[in-house]
Amino acid sequence: MTNNEPQTSPSGYNSAGKQNVLIEVKNLKQYFNIRSNLGKKAFVKAVDNVSFNIYKGETLGLVGESGSGKTTLGRSILRIYEPTSGHVIFSGVDITRLKKGKLLPYRKKMQYIFQDPYASLDPRMTVSDIVGEALDIHNLTSSKKDRVEKIRELLNIVGLNSEHASRYPHEFSGGQRQRIGIARAIAVEPEFIVCDEPVSALDVSIRAQIINTLEEMQERLHLTYLFISHDLGVVRHTCDRVGVMYLGHIVELVESEELYRNPLHPYTQALLTAIPEPDPEVAKKRNRIILKGEIPSPVNPPSGCKFRTRCPYAKDICAKEVPEFKEYKDGHYVACHFAGKI
Ligand SMILES: Nc1ncnc2c1ncn2[C@@H]1O[C@H](COP(=O)(O)OP(=O)(O)OP(=O)(O)O)[C@@H](O)[C@H]1O
Ligand SMILES: [Mg+2]
Repeated sequence: MTNNEPQTSPSGYNSAGKQNVLIEVKNLKQYFNIRSNLGKKAFVKAVDNVSFNIYKGETLGLVGESGSGKTTLGRSILRIYEPTSGHVIFSGVDITRLKKGKLLPYRKKMQYIFQDPYASLDPRMTVSDIVGEALDIHNLTSSKKDRVEKIRELLNIVGLNSEHASRYPHEFSGGQRQRIGIARAIAVEPEFIVCDEPVSALDVSIRAQIINTLEEMQERLHLTYLFISHDLGVVRHTCDRVGVMYLGHIVELVESEELYRNPLHPYTQALLTAIPEPDPEVAKKRNRIILKGEIPSPVNPPSGCKFRTRCPYAKDICAKEVPEFKEYKDGHYVACHFAGKI
């Protein structure tokens, strides 16, 4: 940051009252090479030309059906998957252009919390090894004693205790394992964390506890989150803004409450139809859309608007032209030829 730039408060607002962008995603594509049934080469267009910003200090939700590309997008932003094309600009630096050797400082700033806390923890490592490994990779301890102390502190922060340090992952409950995953992620003092369905694998009764822990971490460490979830109910209360993905595209992006009050994209309207709305006034205004058919294959997606084959409002133009993802009004982005008219 140069001295001329407005100062950022921990909340992410600068002195001009505008939110600072932490990450710019520009025209990001992630195509996976596969072989089709006939042995021909083909691509899965898992993320297809996606552009959006993530503001400092916010929780940005990402929702969409299974296979819509949420995990792939999260991993491509962190370069866990090398993007096929496009840019990810972190604090002004295009990390997609950095050589592997120059990427390590950014690996430290950006972390990932996995959906399945069991599969993501090495069963042969103790909790101390798991959290300590993250500290070691980035040289974050000054002595053995400091290392032990830091691990203890991290376990305390996430609601575990120091006796847990010498135990193995299988000795913990699902919620506790997810706490280990969180401790590992925050060990390196990141600025940004992709939380990929961090509570979906957990018992309903402990989901709120883990979400609370994530929220506490965010406040304490001034973190920015990309929060991936199937559950529109969880996203509503956890996220400041929400992006809706469909077949590799973000089709709508707006502040959470506005998404629930005034969904513009028919796909978002369909997703919301499926969840109960406690406010009768909001429920009355909502278009009820029941989706027909299955999500098409990302290998051979429909022309034009990818949602058109399931959209009750589709017209000729929808097959011919890809709708631009643009600001409809005041930070409400949508990709639909008929936004505001349906
Ligand atoms: N390594 C890979 N090779 C080939 N195809 C892949 C690979 N990873 C993901 N895909 C495909 O990319 C698409 C998007 O997958 P992704 O896992 O990102 O979806 P998702 O929205 O996270 O789904 P879920 O909600 O089930 O986790 C899917 O069609 C998937 O089959
Ligand atoms: Mg996923």
